[in-house]
Amino acid sequence: MRTHFCGELNKDALDQEVTLCGWINRRRDHGGVIFLDVRDKRGIAQVVINPDTADTFAIAESVRNEFVLKIKGKVIARDDAMINSKIPTGEVEVVASDIEILNTSKPIPFQLDATDTSEEVRLKYRYLDLRRDEMQKRLRLRSKVTHFMRDFMDSNDFLDIETPFLTKATPEGARDYLVPSRTHEGSFFALPQSPQLFKQLLMMSGFERYYQIVKCFRDEDLRADRQPEFTQLDVETSFMDEGEITGLMEKMTRGLFKEAINVDLPDEFPTITFADAMRLYGVDRPDMRIPLQMVDLNELMQSVEFKVFSGPASNEDGRVAAMRVPGGATISRKQIDDYTKYVSIYGAKGLAYIKLNEDGPVSPIIKFLGDEVTQKVIELTGAETGDIIFFGADKAKIVNESLGNLREKLAKDLNLYDKEWAPIWVLDFPMFDVADDGSLNAIHHPFTAPSVDAQTLVDNPSEALSRAYDLVINGSEVGGGSIRIHQSDMQKTVLTLLGIDDEEAREKFGFLLDALEYGCPPHGGMAFGLDRLVMILAGADSIREVIAFPKTQTAACLLTSAPATVPRKQLRELSIKVSLPEKS
Ligand code: AMO
Ligand code: AMP
Repeated sequence: MRTHFCGELNKDALDQEVTLCGWINRRRDHGGVIFLDVRDKRGIAQVVINPDTADTFAIAESVRNEFVLKIKGKVIARDDAMINSKIPTGEVEVVASDIEILNTSKPIPFQLDATDTSEEVRLKYRYLDLRRDEMQKRLRLRSKVTHFMRDFMDSNDFLDIETPFLTKATPEGARDYLVPSRTHEGSFFALPQSPQLFKQLLMMSGFERYYQIVKCFRDEDLRADRQPEFTQLDVETSFMDEGEITGLMEKMTRGLFKEAINVDLPDEFPTITFADAMRLYGVDRPDMRIPLQMVDLNELMQSVEFKVFSGPASNEDGRVAAMRVPGGATISRKQIDDYTKYVSIYGAKGLAYIKLNEDGPVSPIIKFLGDEVTQKVIELTGAETGDIIFFGADKAKIVNESLGNLREKLAKDLNLYDKEWAPIWVLDFPMFDVADDGSLNAIHHPFTAPSVDAQTLVDNPSEALSRAYDLVINGSEVGGGSIRIHQSDMQKTVLTLLGIDDEEAREKFGFLLDALEYGCPPHGGMAFGLDRLVMILAGADSIREVIAFPKTQTAACLLTSAPATVPRKQLRELSIKVSLPEKS
């Protein structure tokens, strides 16, 4: 239909007769002359309609924003005064000789170039929202990313193999989405939380290198970086150790950043142990662009008078930590009150501080700590005049979460970043998380290999480390993986420690336990959160911005109104009866 893309017209086409197709981005009637900004996937061109072409002019008078047109005309140079250097086609315009209306459009419910359109409206009319230049760019970037990944994986001899969506539960720590079976009354499929078990089986089948760009389904509390259905680049290999796997995945990541946004990530990504990450940054996904660290004060605070500090300092689960913020002495009382409120979200009962003013330290707690301890804190944190030191004292979990999140908030508020890109591998995760009742949960998933032998693991499970690794970029966990258990005895041991007895293990994972008995190679792998990677590459602040048709925070689709009720007949076929609590 067309000879040129709107967005690509330039002086090369001067004096040519062209045909353009696209949407009216804007129509301007300059009394006597009509200008149309016509938009296609490549950009915008200006079309001029003069009244001397009476028929065409009449059509141009009748068209409105978002009408779809086919325009014939001649490319001419704009007068110097009319050149628009903001758009690539700004040196030329098309004088229309013929306009065909391919389709009309109702007035659209929001301005495409408005910046304050609510997300609700954007998601309800997502097909219109996606017309916006920003969204077009993001989805183009996403396509470039998946293209690069496929190329990289293919050229490294990985085979793209699909795995089922209608399957059994795959424990990644979230709730399952269930699909009722019509042919097996009362039975349900679970949508996979990841292809974890299938990719391990593919290693047992001898493929050695597998990958897939695949949807995963998790019914969990949603946040800016979590969706109920999201996409992974999923990878599994045989006969490779953790260094080899992370090395290859790092190479892929480096290549991707170069290709997608022309950024050179470091030649070798730094690593940090889980324990150090928690000690220094309070989180297991440290944002290494932020030069703030926590300093442990348990020993120093054990015998101070201030019970708020000496209590947790002497308690086994307790932690007292300080964090120095260079230049932070200018933070006002009101801001400190706001930060105190902020850390209370994470359970902190207060936010003690010391300001190092020109005329000495100022703080509501110096009178409790005494000059000597105050001086020691200043030494340990390396604080200088002009700085502020914040304190957390409570159960370690509360202190880590509150100071860890405060660190990120301060960095945003005060722009404390000292670099633009900071990838880091987090290693040496514990095998298990110990719940208050003493029960164990897998930190990665139950198929991750421990870095100790079975006896040591059973003797002291809470101390055992795993062979898992996470890749964190700018504070976002973009991927994670591990070396897997490849011996059935060890797998049974781990399941038993997790409180899954033989019967339950057979019922849930019998196929895996059996497969492990038939010559299973040592294997391991990783999965990248594709949405998160693209979000970071696009500089977006939510993965919803890089997903064509995302769900809301309450896991609903505003466009299609899913989930929805279904006709009774359909439920009957599935032997399902819905009983909702009475509405009050
Ligand atoms: P994991 O559960 O860590 O590991 O998931 C891998 C990566 O997927 C991304 N991710 C998500 N992205 C968006 N929305 C979600 N709800 C969501 N949940 C996870 C994260 C995360 O790092 N089978 C293992 C991988 C393996 O061991 O090979 C797994 O799924 O970026
Ligand atoms: P209070 O004695 O409760 O007035 O607290 C004195 C100072 O210690 C205030 O600045 C509080 O914000 C702070 N504070 C109280 N509890 C904690 C805590 N658990 N961790 C850190 N600071 C605290």
